[in-house]
Amino acid sequence: MLEVQHLTKLFDGIKAVDDCSFSVAQGKITALIGPNGAGKTTILNCISGIERIDKGNILYEHQDVSHWRDYERAEAGIARTFQLPRIFKNLTVYENVSLSVHDRDQDLIPSFFGFNRLKEEDEKKIANTLAHVKLSDMGDTVAQELSYGQQKLLSLARALLQPHRLLMLDEPVAGVNPALRQEFVTLFKRLRDEGETMLVVEHDMDFAMEIADWVVVMNEGKVLKKGTPVEVRNDREVLKVYSWK
Ligand SMILES: Nc1ncnc2c1ncn2[C@@H]1O[C@H](COP(=O)(O)OP(=O)(O)OP(=O)(O)O)[C@@H](O)[C@H]1O
Ligand SMILES: [Mg+2]
Repeated sequence: MLEVQHLTKLFDGIKAVDDCSFSVAQGKITALIGPNGAGKTTILNCISGIERIDKGNILYEHQDVSHWRDYERAEAGIARTFQLPRIFKNLTVYENVSLSVHDRDQDLIPSFFGFNRLKEEDEKKIANTLAHVKLSDMGDTVAQELSYGQQKLLSLARALLQPHRLLMLDEPVAGVNPALRQEFVTLFKRLRDEGETMLVVEHDMDFAMEIADWVVVMNEGKVLKKGTPVEVRNDREVLKVYSWK
């Protein structure tokens, strides 16, 4: 579904991403892992189009989107979350998620005042997704009152509800308590089985190994290793970079 070819991104002459190539298969979970500063977020930024690339190509569904604008890529079905949650802090949980499903062409303001109600199937989707991220009971809570972990989950819900074909998540469970995190292993696998294609940046290695079908390990801007979780875990170069639990 996605092919990143020889991607290079410089900041002030320094290669944050250096000749990286990997692909994301449709209907699979690909984990992008690596230590701090490896270039993971920069890669997501280049794929979603909020950073311009210096070299290389990004092919999405066989189209070269390397120079498309960010909103064009979003419209083509590339959705993402950010490492720090981006939500409407003064709106309720329910309002936050309703904005994700809302038809772009409709006027958003009347919908807030109830003039323009969501379709029944959208309401069902919202209820389902809030249940997935354990926020069903918090629909009326103003987002800024949520814990950091819950704010991350709200961003995840927003991304899930946004029409998309490729979902990119930047450390989706960072800050979420460990017991709940385990439930997300099950959720991500279920979403994958329902047809989601995901590229997940993750710091928690155990989590990444549990969810991923394919793992790309980065270090200092370069791809160090690509493979199945088992292949990656047993690789000597990878072991040098990480100390596995
Ligand atoms: N806007 C920017 N301007 C300058 N340098 C940047 C910018 N964004 C990232 N960098 C640098 O690029 C490198 C890669 O950063 P990036 O945020 O992509 O790493 P990461 O793998 O996501 O790390 P983390 O695990 O800490 O989130 C780092 O050295 C970082 O300081
Ligand atoms: Mg990052």
